[in-house]
Amino acid sequence: MVHEAGRLPDSVPGAVTVRVPAKINLYLGVGAVRADGYHDLVTVYQAISLYDEVTVRPAARLGIAVHGEGVGQVPTGRDNLAARAARRIAAVAGVRPSVHIDLVKAIPVAGGLAGGSADAAATLLACDALWQTGLDSDRLAALAAELGSDVPFVLRGRTALGSGRGEQLAAVLTRGSYHWVLALDEGGLETPAVYAELDRERGGAPHPEAPGPGDLLAALRAGDAVALGRVLHNDLQAAAVRLRPRISRVLDAGRELGVLGGVVCGSGPTCAFLTRDADDATRVAAALAGSGLVRTVRRAVGPVPGAALLR
Ligand code: C5P
Repeated sequence: MVHEAGRLPDSVPGAVTVRVPAKINLYLGVGAVRADGYHDLVTVYQAISLYDEVTVRPAARLGIAVHGEGVGQVPTGRDNLAARAARRIAAVAGVRPSVHIDLVKAIPVAGGLAGGSADAAATLLACDALWQTGLDSDRLAALAAELGSDVPFVLRGRTALGSGRGEQLAAVLTRGSYHWVLALDEGGLETPAVYAELDRERGGAPHPEAPGPGDLLAALRAGDAVALGRVLHNDLQAAAVRLRPRISRVLDAGRELGVLGGVVCGSGPTCAFLTRDADDATRVAAALAGSGLVRTVRRAVGPVPGAALLR
Protein backbone atom coordinates (compact mmCIF):
# COMPACT_ATOMS: atom_id res chain seq x y z
CA MET A 1 0.00 0.00 0.00
CA VAL A 2 1.90 3.05 -1.22
CA HIS A 3 0.20 6.42 -1.20
CA GLU A 4 0.91 9.37 -3.40
CA ALA A 5 4.34 10.86 -2.72
CA GLY A 6 4.92 8.10 -0.18
CA ARG A 7 2.60 9.76 2.35
CA LEU A 8 -0.35 8.38 4.23
CA PRO A 9 -3.72 10.15 4.26
CA ASP A 10 -3.92 12.80 7.01
CA SER A 11 -5.97 10.65 9.31
CA VAL A 12 -6.86 6.99 9.35
CA PRO A 13 -9.77 6.13 11.69
CA GLY A 14 -8.70 4.31 14.87
CA ALA A 15 -5.05 5.01 14.10
CA VAL A 16 -2.29 6.55 16.21
CA THR A 17 0.59 8.40 14.55
CA VAL A 18 3.92 9.17 16.21
CA ARG A 19 6.70 11.34 14.83
CA VAL A 20 10.23 10.39 15.84
CA PRO A 21 13.58 12.09 15.17
CA ALA A 22 16.91 10.80 13.93
CA LYS A 23 19.97 11.05 16.19
CA ILE A 24 23.53 12.07 15.62
CA ASN A 25 26.44 11.37 17.96
CA LEU A 26 28.34 14.58 18.69
CA TYR A 27 30.82 12.46 20.64
CA LEU A 28 31.26 8.69 20.45
CA GLY A 29 33.99 7.05 22.51
CA VAL A 30 34.10 3.26 22.15
CA GLY A 31 35.65 1.26 24.98
CA ALA A 32 36.24 -2.42 25.54
CA VAL A 33 34.13 -5.31 24.26
CA ARG A 34 31.89 -6.63 27.05
CA ALA A 35 31.02 -10.22 27.86
CA ASP A 36 27.69 -9.78 25.99
CA GLY A 37 29.52 -8.72 22.80
CA TYR A 38 28.52 -5.05 23.03
CA HIS A 39 31.08 -2.29 23.52
CA ASP A 40 31.15 0.08 26.47
CA LEU A 41 30.34 3.53 25.15
CA VAL A 42 30.47 7.12 26.20
CA THR A 43 28.42 9.16 23.77
CA VAL A 44 26.70 12.52 23.47
CA TYR A 45 23.52 12.13 21.44
CA GLN A 46 21.57 14.93 19.80
CA ALA A 47 18.12 14.47 18.25
CA ILE A 48 17.73 16.35 14.95
CA SER A 49 14.79 17.48 12.82
CA LEU A 50 14.78 14.59 10.38
CA TYR A 51 11.73 12.49 11.18
CA ASP A 52 10.05 9.18 10.49
CA GLU A 53 6.29 8.94 11.03
CA VAL A 54 4.87 5.69 12.34
CA THR A 55 1.14 4.93 12.27
CA VAL A 56 -0.37 1.91 14.03
CA ARG A 57 -3.97 0.81 13.67
CA PRO A 58 -5.93 -2.25 14.74
CA ALA A 59 -5.74 -5.10 12.20
CA ALA A 60 -6.49 -8.80 12.02
CA ARG A 61 -2.81 -9.59 12.55
CA LEU A 62 0.58 -7.90 12.87
CA GLY A 63 1.66 -6.41 9.54
CA ILE A 64 4.03 -3.73 8.35
CA ALA A 65 4.40 -1.51 5.28
CA VAL A 66 7.23 0.88 4.47
CA HIS A 67 6.93 4.14 2.53
CA GLY A 68 9.45 6.81 1.55
CA GLU A 69 13.22 6.72 2.06
CA GLY A 70 14.79 3.27 1.60
CA VAL A 71 11.65 1.32 0.64
CA GLY A 72 12.89 -2.11 -0.37
CA GLN A 73 15.86 -2.01 2.04
CA VAL A 74 13.73 -2.28 5.19
CA PRO A 75 12.71 -5.84 6.11
CA THR A 76 8.95 -6.11 6.58
CA GLY A 77 8.92 -9.50 8.33
CA ARG A 78 8.96 -10.54 11.99
CA ASP A 79 12.49 -9.25 12.51
CA ASN A 80 11.64 -5.66 11.67
CA LEU A 81 12.47 -3.70 14.83
CA ALA A 82 9.06 -1.97 14.82
CA ALA A 83 7.30 -5.35 14.65
CA ARG A 84 9.45 -6.58 17.53
CA ALA A 85 8.54 -3.45 19.49
CA ALA A 86 4.81 -4.10 18.93
CA ARG A 87 5.14 -7.73 20.05
CA ARG A 88 7.18 -6.78 23.12
CA ILE A 89 4.79 -4.10 24.41
CA ALA A 90 1.78 -6.30 23.59
CA ALA A 91 3.27 -9.06 25.75
CA VAL A 92 3.77 -6.64 28.65
CA ALA A 93 0.28 -5.16 28.24
CA GLY A 94 -1.30 -8.60 27.95
CA VAL A 95 -2.90 -7.94 24.55
CA ARG A 96 -2.46 -9.51 21.11
CA PRO A 97 -0.09 -7.56 18.82
CA SER A 98 -2.83 -7.21 16.20
CA VAL A 99 -1.81 -3.96 14.52
CA HIS A 100 -0.84 -2.79 11.10
CA ILE A 101 2.26 -0.56 11.20
CA ASP A 102 2.94 2.01 8.48
CA LEU A 103 6.47 3.42 8.49
CA VAL A 104 6.81 6.66 6.53
CA LYS A 105 10.56 7.05 6.41
CA ALA A 106 12.70 10.13 5.93
CA ILE A 107 15.61 8.78 8.00
CA PRO A 108 17.94 6.81 5.72
CA VAL A 109 18.25 3.06 6.31
CA ALA A 110 21.56 1.87 7.85
CA GLY A 111 22.84 5.44 7.72
CA GLY A 112 24.13 5.72 11.30
CA LEU A 113 21.16 7.93 12.25
CA ALA A 114 19.21 5.32 14.28
CA GLY A 115 16.41 5.00 11.72
CA GLY A 116 15.41 1.46 12.76
CA SER A 117 15.69 2.38 16.43
CA ALA A 118 13.51 5.44 15.82
CA ASP A 119 10.80 3.27 14.26
CA ALA A 120 10.93 0.92 17.27
CA ALA A 121 10.66 3.84 19.72
CA ALA A 122 7.74 5.32 17.78
CA THR A 123 5.96 1.96 17.66
CA LEU A 124 6.31 1.56 21.43
CA LEU A 125 4.79 4.98 22.01
CA ALA A 126 2.02 4.48 19.41
CA CYS A 127 1.01 1.05 20.78
CA ASP A 128 1.16 2.42 24.32
CA ALA A 129 -1.39 5.07 23.29
CA LEU A 130 -3.53 2.68 21.21
CA TRP A 131 -3.78 0.07 23.96
CA GLN A 132 -3.69 2.60 26.84
CA THR A 133 -1.19 0.40 28.63
CA GLY A 134 -0.54 2.96 31.38
CA LEU A 135 3.21 2.17 31.38
CA ASP A 136 5.26 4.97 32.93
CA SER A 137 8.23 6.54 31.14
CA ASP A 138 10.78 4.42 33.05
CA ARG A 139 9.05 1.21 32.02
CA LEU A 140 8.86 2.37 28.39
CA ALA A 141 12.55 3.29 28.50
CA ALA A 142 13.37 -0.20 29.83
CA LEU A 143 11.42 -1.83 26.98
CA ALA A 144 13.20 0.50 24.56
CA ALA A 145 16.60 -0.61 25.89
CA GLU A 146 15.68 -4.27 25.30
CA LEU A 147 15.07 -3.45 21.62
CA GLY A 148 18.37 -1.65 20.91
CA SER A 149 21.06 0.58 22.34
CA ASP A 150 19.79 3.79 20.67
CA VAL A 151 16.05 3.22 21.18
CA PRO A 152 15.83 4.87 24.65
CA PHE A 153 17.51 8.00 23.30
CA VAL A 154 15.24 8.55 20.29
CA LEU A 155 12.25 8.00 22.57
CA ARG A 156 13.52 10.79 24.83
CA GLY A 157 15.17 13.16 22.33
CA ARG A 158 16.96 16.53 22.91
CA THR A 159 20.59 16.04 23.95
CA ALA A 160 21.82 13.36 26.34
CA LEU A 161 24.94 11.67 27.59
CA GLY A 162 24.79 7.93 26.88
CA SER A 163 26.76 5.23 28.69
CA GLY A 164 26.65 1.48 29.10
CA ARG A 165 26.03 0.28 25.55
CA GLY A 166 24.39 3.67 24.89
CA GLU A 167 21.10 2.94 26.61
CA GLN A 168 21.83 4.61 29.97
CA LEU A 169 20.98 8.28 29.60
CA ALA A 170 21.75 11.40 31.60
CA ALA A 171 20.58 14.94 30.91
CA VAL A 172 22.96 17.42 29.27
CA LEU A 173 22.66 21.17 29.70
CA THR A 174 22.64 22.88 26.30
CA ARG A 175 21.98 26.32 24.93
CA GLY A 176 20.89 27.32 21.46
CA SER A 177 20.06 25.49 18.31
CA TYR A 178 22.58 23.98 15.90
CA HIS A 179 22.32 23.91 12.11
CA TRP A 180 23.40 20.65 10.50
CA VAL A 181 23.85 19.48 6.94
CA LEU A 182 23.71 15.72 6.47
CA ALA A 183 25.45 14.10 3.50
CA LEU A 184 23.68 10.82 2.68
CA ASP A 185 25.54 8.09 0.86
CA GLU A 186 24.41 5.48 -1.62
CA GLY A 187 23.72 2.38 0.48
CA GLY A 188 24.22 1.93 4.22
CA LEU A 189 26.81 0.33 6.48
CA GLU A 190 25.99 -2.54 8.84
CA THR A 191 26.70 -1.44 12.41
CA PRO A 192 28.16 -4.81 13.58
CA ALA A 193 30.60 -4.76 10.63
CA VAL A 194 31.87 -1.30 11.60
CA TYR A 195 32.39 -2.32 15.25
CA ALA A 196 34.16 -5.49 14.02
CA GLU A 197 36.45 -3.37 11.83
CA LEU A 198 37.31 -1.20 14.86
CA ASP A 199 38.11 -4.33 16.90
CA ARG A 200 40.28 -5.62 14.07
CA GLU A 201 42.17 -2.30 13.90
CA ARG A 202 42.73 -2.38 17.65
CA GLY A 203 43.92 -5.99 17.38
CA GLY A 204 42.92 -6.86 20.94
CA ALA A 205 45.23 -4.17 22.36
CA PRO A 206 43.86 -2.17 25.28
CA HIS A 207 41.63 0.46 23.70
CA PRO A 208 43.23 3.91 23.53
CA GLU A 209 41.77 6.45 25.93
CA ALA A 210 39.54 8.82 23.97
CA PRO A 211 39.77 12.48 25.04
CA GLY A 212 36.39 12.30 26.81
CA PRO A 213 33.43 14.57 26.14
CA GLY A 214 34.36 17.31 28.67
CA ASP A 215 35.20 20.03 26.12
CA LEU A 216 32.17 19.13 24.04
CA LEU A 217 29.83 19.36 27.03
CA ALA A 218 31.33 22.76 27.88
CA ALA A 219 30.70 23.98 24.31
CA LEU A 220 27.06 22.82 24.49
CA ARG A 221 26.62 24.47 27.89
CA ALA A 222 27.94 27.75 26.47
CA GLY A 223 25.93 27.44 23.24
CA ASP A 224 29.21 27.92 21.35
CA ALA A 225 28.83 26.37 17.89
CA VAL A 226 32.39 27.29 16.84
CA ALA A 227 33.86 25.46 19.86
CA LEU A 228 31.48 22.53 19.34
CA GLY A 229 32.57 22.17 15.71
CA ARG A 230 36.20 21.73 16.79
CA VAL A 231 35.55 18.86 19.21
CA LEU A 232 33.07 16.62 17.36
CA HIS A 233 34.52 13.12 17.77
CA ASN A 234 33.69 9.57 16.72
CA ASP A 235 35.87 6.53 17.49
CA LEU A 236 34.02 4.58 14.76
CA GLN A 237 34.92 7.10 12.08
CA ALA A 238 38.23 5.55 10.96
CA ALA A 239 36.62 2.09 10.75
CA ALA A 240 33.71 3.45 8.69
CA VAL A 241 36.16 5.21 6.36
CA ARG A 242 38.16 2.01 5.94
CA LEU A 243 34.99 0.16 4.89
CA ARG A 244 33.76 3.05 2.71
CA PRO A 245 36.83 5.13 1.66
CA ARG A 246 34.80 7.80 -0.15
CA ILE A 247 33.55 9.03 3.25
CA SER A 248 36.91 10.77 3.70
CA ARG A 249 36.38 12.69 0.43
CA VAL A 250 32.98 13.83 1.70
CA LEU A 251 34.53 14.99 5.01
CA ASP A 252 37.26 16.84 3.07
CA ALA A 253 34.64 18.49 0.85
CA GLY A 254 32.82 19.77 3.96
CA ARG A 255 36.06 21.16 5.42
CA GLU A 256 36.87 22.93 2.15
CA LEU A 257 33.44 24.59 2.33
CA GLY A 258 34.41 26.09 5.71
CA VAL A 259 32.02 24.17 7.97
CA LEU A 260 32.49 24.51 11.74
CA GLY A 261 33.04 20.76 12.00
CA GLY A 262 32.23 17.46 10.38
CA VAL A 263 31.82 13.95 11.77
CA VAL A 264 30.60 10.54 10.67
CA CYS A 265 27.20 9.78 12.24
CA GLY A 266 27.38 6.68 14.47
CA SER A 267 28.60 3.76 12.37
CA GLY A 268 28.16 5.79 9.16
CA PRO A 269 28.14 6.28 6.28
CA THR A 270 26.17 9.55 6.75
CA CYS A 271 28.33 12.59 7.54
CA ALA A 272 27.03 15.51 9.63
CA PHE A 273 28.41 19.01 9.12
CA LEU A 274 27.89 21.79 11.64
CA THR A 275 27.30 25.18 10.04
CA ARG A 276 27.05 28.74 11.41
CA ASP A 277 23.36 29.43 10.80
CA ALA A 278 20.44 28.61 8.50
CA ASP A 279 21.88 30.56 5.55
CA ASP A 280 25.26 28.89 5.91
CA ALA A 281 23.53 25.48 6.03
CA THR A 282 21.73 26.29 2.77
CA ARG A 283 25.04 27.24 1.13
CA VAL A 284 26.86 24.10 2.34
CA ALA A 285 23.93 21.83 1.42
CA ALA A 286 23.77 23.22 -2.12
CA ALA A 287 27.52 22.89 -2.64
CA LEU A 288 27.64 19.31 -1.32
CA ALA A 289 24.60 18.33 -3.39
CA GLY A 290 26.42 19.56 -6.50
CA SER A 291 29.74 17.91 -5.60
CA GLY A 292 28.89 14.52 -7.09
CA LEU A 293 30.22 12.91 -3.89
CA VAL A 294 26.90 12.27 -2.13
CA ARG A 295 23.57 10.67 -2.97
CA THR A 296 21.62 13.55 -1.47
CA VAL A 297 21.75 16.09 1.35
CA ARG A 298 19.39 17.06 4.18
CA ARG A 299 19.35 20.11 6.42
CA ALA A 300 18.33 19.65 10.04
CA VAL A 301 18.41 21.51 13.34
CA GLY A 302 18.99 20.09 16.77
CA PRO A 303 18.24 19.51 19.52
CA VAL A 304 14.57 18.54 19.04
CA PRO A 305 12.21 16.54 21.30
CA GLY A 306 11.97 12.75 21.06
CA ALA A 307 9.10 10.56 19.86
CA ALA A 308 5.76 12.39 20.13
CA LEU A 309 2.12 11.62 19.38
CA LEU A 310 0.86 13.55 16.36
CA ARG A 311 -2.74 12.31 16.26
O1 C5P B 1 21.92 -2.23 20.13
P1 C5P B 1 21.81 -2.38 18.64
O2 C5P B 1 21.00 -3.58 18.26
O3 C5P B 1 21.40 -1.15 17.93
O4 C5P B 1 23.29 -2.69 18.16
C1 C5P B 1 23.55 -3.14 16.86
C2 C5P B 1 24.93 -3.78 16.83
O5 C5P B 1 25.95 -2.78 17.03
C3 C5P B 1 25.20 -4.79 17.91
O6 C5P B 1 24.77 -6.07 17.51
C4 C5P B 1 26.72 -4.73 18.06
O7 C5P B 1 27.35 -5.45 17.01
C5 C5P B 1 27.02 -3.26 17.82
N1 C5P B 1 27.10 -2.49 19.07
C6 C5P B 1 28.18 -2.67 19.91
N2 C5P B 1 28.27 -1.93 21.07
C7 C5P B 1 27.31 -1.03 21.39
C8 C5P B 1 26.21 -0.83 20.54
C9 C5P B 1 26.13 -1.58 19.38
O8 C5P B 1 29.07 -3.48 19.63
N3 C5P B 1 27.43 -0.33 22.51
